Amino acid sequence: MTANATPGDGLYERVAAAAAHVRGRLGGRAPTIGLILGSGLGGWADRLGDPVTIDYGEIPHFPRSHVEGHKGRLVVGTSGGATCVAMQGRVHLYEGHPAALVAFPARVLVALGARTLIITNAAGGLRPEWAPGTLMVIRDHLDMLRDHPLRGPNDDRLGPRFPDMTRAYAPELRALVKDVAAARGVAIQEGVYVAMPGPTYETPAEVKMLQGMGADATGMSTVPEVIVANHMGARCIGISCITNKAAGITGEPLSHAEVTETATRVRAEFEGLLDGVVAALAAPAAAGGAA
Ligand code: HPA
Repeated sequence: MTANATPGDGLYERVAAAAAHVRGRLGGRAPTIGLILGSGLGGWADRLGDPVTIDYGEIPHFPRSHVEGHKGRLVVGTSGGATCVAMQGRVHLYEGHPAALVAFPARVLVALGARTLIITNAAGGLRPEWAPGTLMVIRDHLDMLRDHPLRGPNDDRLGPRFPDMTRAYAPELRALVKDVAAARGVAIQEGVYVAMPGPTYETPAEVKMLQGMGADATGMSTVPEVIVANHMGARCIGISCITNKAAGITGEPLSHAEVTETATRVRAEFEGLLDGVVAALAAPAAAGGAA
């Protein structure tokens, strides 16, 4: 297994090798939309038409996930007129991988041709008024992780040394998600996601700090992938499923079971939203077009 994925040490070649392996299994199909599906949200990929499924273990240099509810496989197939590549499961920093390796699969999705990434996660709600099951389109993020996926030498073939993050979550795509949600009668909030290292959930004191910093939802993923996608010039959509109120808001202890239960409860609504977003992205005139 690859212990290190720091730019400048062959990262470009490893991304190319992983993408070449996947491409070789696709019979000429080229995905234009990539999806990274979070805890309990991976079922959407089972609905793809004409699917090709590849276990992460078969892809050179790919990290593997071990968390319950994360399947650890890539599914390429069609939805809403677009060819999509979806990740069922991802690895997290708390598993011990460096951020550059956590974000490696996102680079492979972009290298395969996905110029738009849809990144989903389960998150704790920092707004007391948001009930578990609330969906949130990510407007921006705060990075509280203790590693950065671009730390180390930069490879200019992948992207610039100092990437701009002003539009890390593309404004036109946030508008598209909100339009699709409105058309489907799905309530959706918009807010700031903060990435925390985990694997502990936050303390109530940390929750107060994060609220004061301007965050609306807290989780343990997404930010490394959004950073490398922006580094490579891809556009990102982030959608959080608020699975629980963050620690201390209700006084009740948090559990992973609660997280997956809520994700399962909103599954149909969430998957319908993804169907609509993918179809809207695939439509030729949509927000600059993704397909
Ligand atoms: N905190 C961090 N990550 C999470 C949470 C939370 O409350 N819920 C789901 N993922």
